[in-house]
Amino acid sequence: MRTINFDTIKVSKDWAFENARSTDQWTHGYHRYPAKFLPNVVKKLIESYASPDFVVADLFAGCGTTLVEAKVHGIRSVGTDINPIATLITRVKTTPINPQQLERAYNKIVSSFETFREEDYANLSVHEKLDYWFRPKEKYRIAHLYQQTNRIRTVSIREFFLVAISHILKNCSGWLQSSTKPQRDLEKNIPNPFDSFKQHCAHMMKGNLQFYNHLSEKGFMDVECSISQADARHTAIADGSVDIIITSPPYVTSYEYADIHQLTGYWMEYFSDINSFRKLFIGTSYSGKSETTKSNSILGDSIVEALVPKDKKVARDVSNYFDDMRSVAQEMYRIVKKRGYACIVIGNTTLKDIHIKSAEVFYDFLKMAGFKKVDVIKRNIPNKLMPTLRDKTTGKFTTLSNQDCKKVYPDEYIIIVKK
Ligand SMILES: C[S@@+](CC[C@H](N)C(=O)[O-])C[C@H]1O[C@@H](n2cnc3c(N)ncnc32)[C@H](O)[C@@H]1O
Repeated sequence: MRTINFDTIKVSKDWAFENARSTDQWTHGYHRYPAKFLPNVVKKLIESYASPDFVVADLFAGCGTTLVEAKVHGIRSVGTDINPIATLITRVKTTPINPQQLERAYNKIVSSFETFREEDYANLSVHEKLDYWFRPKEKYRIAHLYQQTNRIRTVSIREFFLVAISHILKNCSGWLQSSTKPQRDLEKNIPNPFDSFKQHCAHMMKGNLQFYNHLSEKGFMDVECSISQADARHTAIADGSVDIIITSPPYVTSYEYADIHQLTGYWMEYFSDINSFRKLFIGTSYSGKSETTKSNSILGDSIVEALVPKDKKVARDVSNYFDDMRSVAQEMYRIVKKRGYACIVIGNTTLKDIHIKSAEVFYDFLKMAGFKKVDVIKRNIPNKLMPTLRDKTTGKFTTLSNQDCKKVYPDEYIIIVKK
């Protein structure tokens, strides 16, 4: 594959979807998730490159946008993510539930609110972090919701309501609503968890109904879809078993997914030690690596070298990220069939005033792994799905109120390659 200068690629209007966003269609609106796909992008990739007999894979499945779109199109899919909260959300979003059964279970939970008494939860013992984020009033009500939900025997229905609870935890805690970073808002007007639960369940049940009806009408109800918690660098997916990968890798040192999902993580006991959990994620700034290493991409290595005099720690994080992403490219090549596709949605960024060309470096890794170029598309990122401001000092995503910030990720690339 020849080298391309990504800066010279013109923004494509065909992939903008300015007036046709589909973030709330089907089950897509079940749970917020940082840097999630715009479903239209996945839909267009499926409709352009996949056939009904294909197997679609997403190694960084997140909240499952690719898998939901595959199912809606009647195409088999397989997904992995290192984050067990992501795999819970994806499992729920790809599992249609009989609407009557769901409503019965919902009514039972809601009717239990009438007999709820705070005193019954006075001795509740939770992780100390939850005591930091929640006031007793909301904590007791969430504990009640959680207890009622855990009594449901049908796994798919129980998990549906666990996802509803997970989604409302941020709203019902002291977490600053506009921030993905763990930041407390002492002025926050915190809603009653029972009201938030009812409101969000109504939204989810509407999505389930639409998804369920569509799949029944099309005969897609039993189309296979599997999601597992696994590392994208080495999955259990068989060699040459996938026709097309549609994925979006994590950005470098931008989102700390472990921290972002800590409310659910502690409530549902996915982890008690966040430090070791953080280290599993590609792109984390907690990797603790002591040295930079060569990535074999001339561009990647020059970026790391330019970072070293500015900030050794950031240089190590970026070097580590490139190293991990090189392994991901090799893993992708291993699981894709001959003449199969990989479509990767990836953006560049700036850290310490150095342009981190993650898209071009990953393109290098895809070439090294053996892939051939089909197309590289540049598209604008919708602001709603991706914050476009970064703190100049910490490099983390921030809000407009922060004066010390700069614009990042105004656009992203869709790299399409073939084995
Ligand atoms: C940009 S998000 C993907 C969002 C997804 N496209 C969606 O629509 O929800 C990147 C994902 O990579 C996951 N991730 C990070 N490190 C990973 C690893 N080592 N193996 C697998 N997944 C990982 C994160 O948990 C996160 O869900």
